[in-house]
Amino acid sequence: MAKRKRRNGPATDIAPSLPPVAAGLLSPMRRVPPEISRPPYAITGDPGLSVSSLIRTADEIDAMRRTGAAAAEILLGAGAVVRPGVTTDEIDRVVHDLSLKAGGYPSPLNYRGYPKSVCTSVNEVICHGIPDSRPLAEGDIVNIDVTLYRDGVHGDTSATFLVGEVDTASVKLVEVTLESLERAIAAVTPGGPVCDIGRAIEAHAGKHRLGVVREFIGHGVGTEFHSNLQIPHYFDRRMTTPIEIGTSFTIEPMLTLGGPDAVVWNDGWTAVTIDGTRTAQFEHTLLMTEQGAERLTVTASGDCAHEQVRAAFV
Ligand code: MF3
Ligand code: CO
Ligand code: CO
Repeated sequence: MAKRKRRNGPATDIAPSLPPVAAGLLSPMRRVPPEISRPPYAITGDPGLSVSSLIRTADEIDAMRRTGAAAAEILLGAGAVVRPGVTTDEIDRVVHDLSLKAGGYPSPLNYRGYPKSVCTSVNEVICHGIPDSRPLAEGDIVNIDVTLYRDGVHGDTSATFLVGEVDTASVKLVEVTLESLERAIAAVTPGGPVCDIGRAIEAHAGKHRLGVVREFIGHGVGTEFHSNLQIPHYFDRRMTTPIEIGTSFTIEPMLTLGGPDAVVWNDGWTAVTIDGTRTAQFEHTLLMTEQGAERLTVTASGDCAHEQVRAAFV
């Protein structure tokens, strides 16, 4: 008798995360002192059409290393305040203040009208969660996505943190999501096709019966927050765009316990899984070099919040 082929794709019998995340109240827009240099969209909210090269100059690479390191420090600072009872608005305040203290501008603020300085995505929120008065609860998972603009360039990085004691399935989700980012970073080669990234992520997620979100993807990042380069986290062999040396981009896989389909709340930002199951994400800004993808969003000593999270897995 032929062995039944193991069905792939995410599990369909996962319970939604309860209680569902509900929107809280927004605090007033935070201010940025005039001496901080702002990205062009800060006033109007409109980044316009992407015009920047995908390849960075030597000066831009230096700036991206510095800004990336500063973004990594800010994410570490944000992760340090995660505990039950802390509101996501408090995390926004911490990220906002650390960004200014670093001499930079929190890139999300007024990007396409986004009202806050960081994204905080709890449980079934896939990405772009808006910080508000909701306190983190024991057992939550929360992605904090920091982007800093300084010296004319952006550094974009995120981690999903465990809030107190978290159930085994959610810890596994967070762990496999981080592993899938690491595998994608290892898979991409100078001049190699962008689909190597999605192949590595989808293979690892599939092995663990986790879904891969398709509606939100990685992107070119540098002098612009989001450039024209698209980095899907799912595998599509037609995506043959080569990642040339000097390209700066993100990889930011979002994995789901259940189905990967997304719906956006009426606030125009908060993306949640349709089936209400939990989701996790990790992100680095990378530079393609002769030796492969270099992580730009690590501190001067090579640290990042991903290690902070990993230490909580045991
Ligand atoms: N940091 C997000 C990313 O990884 C983008 C957030 S856009 C915002 O691409 F407006 F929501 F902040
Ligand atoms: Co990004
Ligand atoms: Co980001």
